Amino acid sequence: MAEQPAAAPHTHEKREHWSGQTAFILAAIGSAVGLGNIWRFPGQAYENGGGAFMIPYLVALLTAGIPILFLEHAIGHRFRGSAPLAMKRVHRHAEGVGWLHVAICFVIGLYYTAIIAWALSYFFFSFSLSYQDDPAGFFLGDYLQLGEAGTVSLSFVPQVIIPLVAVWLITIVVLALGLHNGVERLNLIGIPVLVATFMVIVVRALFLDGAGDGIEALFTPDFAALGDPQVWIAAYGQIFFSLSLAYGIMITYASYRRRRSNITSPGLVVAFGNSSFELLAGIGVFAALGFLASQQGVAVGDLEGLAGPFLSFVTFPAVIAEMPGGQFFGALFFASLVLAGLTSLVSVLQVVSSALQDKLNLKPRTAAVAVGGVSAVLSIVGFGTTTGLYLLDTVDQWSNQLGIVAGAITMIAAAIWIGRRGHELERHLAAVSTLRPGKAWLWLVSAVALLLIYMFVDKAVSLLIDGYEGYPTWYLVVFGWGTVAFLALAALLMPLMRWRKDIVHFHPWPTREQLNLPADVGERHTEDYDPRSGS
Ligand code: PHE
Repeated sequence: MAEQPAAAPHTHEKREHWSGQTAFILAAIGSAVGLGNIWRFPGQAYENGGGAFMIPYLVALLTAGIPILFLEHAIGHRFRGSAPLAMKRVHRHAEGVGWLHVAICFVIGLYYTAIIAWALSYFFFSFSLSYQDDPAGFFLGDYLQLGEAGTVSLSFVPQVIIPLVAVWLITIVVLALGLHNGVERLNLIGIPVLVATFMVIVVRALFLDGAGDGIEALFTPDFAALGDPQVWIAAYGQIFFSLSLAYGIMITYASYRRRRSNITSPGLVVAFGNSSFELLAGIGVFAALGFLASQQGVAVGDLEGLAGPFLSFVTFPAVIAEMPGGQFFGALFFASLVLAGLTSLVSVLQVVSSALQDKLNLKPRTAAVAVGGVSAVLSIVGFGTTTGLYLLDTVDQWSNQLGIVAGAITMIAAAIWIGRRGHELERHLAAVSTLRPGKAWLWLVSAVALLLIYMFVDKAVSLLIDGYEGYPTWYLVVFGWGTVAFLALAALLMPLMRWRKDIVHFHPWPTREQLNLPADVGERHTEDYDPRSGS
């Protein structure tokens, strides 16, 4: 860090801080490593070319994952705010982009908790192997008491609600303890424990009969898949979801770093750490599937439920039921899901909480309790019922496949194309970091945005024309497009509200002068904001 500008100004920032670089890295990995690594990646890889998927996956990581991760870290670190505040400082009309991120996180928090709650129940079921006779019937029938698709029921399922309440209580306590004592500690303990637990799972799985067949099924390359655009889209989608990009999470987390902090190298640690865990999970999961296939005397490809919730809650229980020492293995597996989920969940809610702290000038604890309380009630009403699974599936599809892509496109457009902050952010990264991103970085970011626009249109058209999973149209309009309408309203209306905190007295550091940039970009300078108008 030889050429760093002299001194970081003494600021009167009251903002919370990570206690150091390691804390930040662990928290960012905690957010990235989640259910997506354990159940989404293996299925995606398997369905999209097996071993050949590693090529688009790596390309996506290098051309999109790392560049966008750097972009978010740069925005959060330079403009030092929750997503709406940082985006407002990027461009005065871009606050809504931040609220789009916040709204997506709010929605995801509602159902992500439900999945963690199921995993918590399954952790306990593992000791008695309650699910062993008929895993599918147990999950959908005995446990979820699934009602009819395309309906809305208000009959609550106690065995889902009890763990759901527990998960919310834990989450609210962690958030209320604050960034340092809550979020940071959870990750400091949780991530090493998670990695160790998963190592045990993978090693155990590798020693099962048939493990080799499973791994072969996962990695046998189907190079023809590389000619299919959908495979490439799947790879980019996986990277975005897995690295928690475009949710405002990385902006928020980076804003808690001290001004004088190396940004790019830790970013690489997060990106490669996440992908390593993902690969590890893929190996463990498919080794276990190989075992199940060999027990049932079928090929791995003929197994059902290789992806999504069914992988974890139906297929895996079948593995556990068949294997020696299944109780222990099952408990470890579901404990890992809970841990991986919790560390991602707090990152999502921190985005919402920190935005409200900035906008309404709330204390961290007040914001955390308010966000947690409201979310908990909505989450229980929406996902604690016999039709929760369908709702989850629908809301997830729209918020993740459309909302996020829109969140990424608008962020890039606001920062690079309209706000013209590209050079500033690039020099910012270069000034504070040991590793400089270089000019190619900005080109990649813009190119990714073009790809994302294509993905957005492609997905929107297919959801409009084909619907989803055969659910009735009214249902998709209310819960799918309704989710999109909610996100759009949040993005449009929240910026109209006045900031209750002084956001005027803000000086980016290093200053534009120190970065050898002209004083202004033809844009009203951040210091000209009128705090009362909020415009
Ligand atoms: N990155 C998380 C995973 O891989 C998913 C996630 C995305 C969680 C966005 C929260 C927010 O599971």
